[in-house]
Amino acid sequence: GLQLNSLDTFTEEENMFRDSVKRFAVDIVGPKVREMDEKESMDPTIIQGLFEQGLMGIETSAEHGGAEASFVSAIIAIEELAKIDPSVSVMCDVHNTLVNTILRKYGTKEQQDKWLPLLSESQLGSFCLSEPVSGSDAFALQTRAKKDGDHWVINGSKMWITNSHEAEIFLIFANVDPSKGYKGITCFIATKDMGVQIAKKEEKLGIRASSTCTLNFDDLRIPAENIIGGEGKGYKLAIEILNEGRIGIAAQMLGLAQGAFDKAVPYTYQRTQFGQPIGTFQGMQFQIAEAAVELETARLLTYNAARRKEEGRTFTKEAAMAKYWASQVAQHVSGSAIEWCGGVGFTRETGIEKFWRDSKIGAIYEGTSNIQLQTIAKFIQQEYSR
Ligand code: CAA
Ligand code: FAD
Repeated sequence: GLQLNSLDTFTEEENMFRDSVKRFAVDIVGPKVREMDEKESMDPTIIQGLFEQGLMGIETSAEHGGAEASFVSAIIAIEELAKIDPSVSVMCDVHNTLVNTILRKYGTKEQQDKWLPLLSESQLGSFCLSEPVSGSDAFALQTRAKKDGDHWVINGSKMWITNSHEAEIFLIFANVDPSKGYKGITCFIATKDMGVQIAKKEEKLGIRASSTCTLNFDDLRIPAENIIGGEGKGYKLAIEILNEGRIGIAAQMLGLAQGAFDKAVPYTYQRTQFGQPIGTFQGMQFQIAEAAVELETARLLTYNAARRKEEGRTFTKEAAMAKYWASQVAQHVSGSAIEWCGGVGFTRETGIEKFWRDSKIGAIYEGTSNIQLQTIAKFIQQEYSR
């Protein structure tokens, strides 16, 4: 098995995959980044491109229309996309690491045959857990499902749902028996045309091209065969998927930080003040060197968690550490990158300020930084309080 994690330990296939994602990101996404940020909308040709490039079913089997690649490949795609646009990156991340993975891991053969080809080839997915009253306390969700013959009827609402403006397929967590507490939470798969109502679209500080909407369910009828993983199993399924998903967000933040670094550092060797390139002043050199160390630590944590997950070893603590740390690094490095470029870094033109705006979300979604620390602390307590 591949246990090492520095950049030269990728397989030939993974390196080729990285090159192809990079080309797509630079050539196709790159020219649209600023406009999409300003208009707060994802260009449909980019979504289509993600499907055409095989980036929407990365781990899905070829039989189901996917690329049949590794988990590490999914992480590579999320990272490379984030170097150019963290919004496109999170679209790919949610679709692959949350939506596809739930079906691959917990779907029946019939469910996989039905949904995975659609998700690989053309229909965007979203993951609907959070609600106005339940963010960090996700299992306190208030959406309810009641059985009615061979259907379930869902009532309630969701908030903050990524991809929901463009999505066709929705994984919805609802409680079928609140008397059981979180052990009533159940995962349903629904399509937009069943009556999922897309309400308010948020206006945001960062990742503005990524849609974030409120959803309403008003007697939404879902066929009984659309339960994934069994009644009352939804809470476990949600958190187990999030444990993996957090490695994806770590990769998004790692890519973002690298993207800001790659834009700013060359400028410091071109810009001259006091008769020398600003990047050759020790005060600058040391800041840049420290940022490079931070990037390396985020990279090692992220790929270590990804490899562990791929090898079937425990990875929850490592994933929480990677997500927590990469989010910190992303904020720090992208903030420094603005300063290294002086006034130029502060303008819209360079795109560096956008990385900084986009970095803030890393500490909030898929479990806030405090939630990651809480997870890490639980493991420490287990290890040391025996
Ligand atoms: N891994 C596996 N199981 C876990 C777990 C973990 N990390 N954390 C908790 N559990 C299980 C427990 O074992 C327990 O199950 P059993 O009763 O079967 O043993 C159950 O969950 C409840 O445990 P707790 O009482 O300790 O948990 P809690 O209710 O205090 O909080 C939590 C649990 C809601 C999962 C919380 O820790 C958490 O992670 N909150 C953040 C929610 C989140 O990440 N939301 C993301 C939404 S999706 C998104 O954001 C996508 C995007 O933006 C791109
Ligand atoms: P709260 O839970 O109210 O947290 C507020 C503050 O309190 C945070 O600093 C938090 O760390 C702290 N806090 C809360 N509880 C504790 C505690 N026990 N100990 C210490 N501190 C605590 N959700 C989805 O289901 N699907 C999506 O696709 C999705 N996409 C999102 C996209 C965006 C842009 C955003 C902003 C959110 C998205 N979310 C999504 C929701 C996201 O997962 C939640 O915002 C997040 O889990 C935090 O919940 P909250 O916003 O309710 O904050």
